[in-house]
Amino acid sequence: MARRTVYKGWRPGEEGSEGVVPEAAIIDGRTIAAELRKRVADAAAGLRAVHGLIPGLATILVGDDPASHSYVRAKHAACVAAGLATFDRRLPATASATDLIAEIARLNADQRVDGILVQLPLPAQIDAHRVIAEIDPDKDVDGFHPVNVGRLWSGLPGMVPCTPQGCMMLLRSVRRDLAGAEAVVVGRSSIVGRPLAALLLAADCTVTLAHSKTRHAAEIARRADILIAAVGRPRLIGAEWIKSGAIVVDVGITPMIGADGRRQMVGDVDFAAARSIAAAITPVPGGVGPMTIACLLRNTLGAACRRRGIADPLAL
Ligand code: GUN
Repeated sequence: MARRTVYKGWRPGEEGSEGVVPEAAIIDGRTIAAELRKRVADAAAGLRAVHGLIPGLATILVGDDPASHSYVRAKHAACVAAGLATFDRRLPATASATDLIAEIARLNADQRVDGILVQLPLPAQIDAHRVIAEIDPDKDVDGFHPVNVGRLWSGLPGMVPCTPQGCMMLLRSVRRDLAGAEAVVVGRSSIVGRPLAALLLAADCTVTLAHSKTRHAAEIARRADILIAAVGRPRLIGAEWIKSGAIVVDVGITPMIGADGRRQMVGDVDFAAARSIAAAITPVPGGVGPMTIACLLRNTLGAACRRRGIADPLAL
């Protein structure tokens, strides 16, 4: 469906021009993630043939949270499909930080392990910051260790968190050059909002990080050429948050029961409303979600190469 509108794009010459803006394009995360997974699998086959190297990912899962179990299962399945080795460590919900740190120390010392991922959230008795700081930064495939956070904000090479890395790939699938764009990130989590703000800044965007205490958040969001929703509040972002012609990336995935009584994943963006305003939008499911695991595979392969001084075939 085409709409006549004043298109306030951020590319040169688009400012305030009048034109026909079609319904937003859907950014297909499943296809883009599948392509990256294939590239990782091909690169892994090459490393095995040439160097006898099989990159290995270790996950540590603490407790019984069903969602965390299903995420970890999916990560292992993706590793196996790409030809990476996996190591599955489980601790009971009653485990202490000391137990978890002892497991991390074993994996840090294990030469078969290139990447270590502690599945979050952790039980309340364990301070996530304390345990993440114990992971060898060169094996920190989540990019959550303070050394990697510092590298990211300093513009230095390091491990880049998976979901934000995936968001950047999706953005770049529709706009190669993001320089000069107004980017608004709604949500300041350590896993998504903060690192994504750093990546957008590194891509020469003008970045605003909005959060639960931000006043006039919808008004601020309406300035955005690139709008990222990462708050975990189903359909919070409605039409009044979105500028005509914006690119909208929806990181939210909240499980809800639909009108048909079935469980479904709901994003932070009111998709139907956004689709008639934005230029491009990620769906939920099938947008950002598949990118997280694909980027985890890429980080694990990259870590395996760096640790051995081998050129990373998938270097950014
Ligand atoms: N829980 C939700 N997302 C993530 C993630 O990207 N990494 C880890 N380790 N835990 C998570």
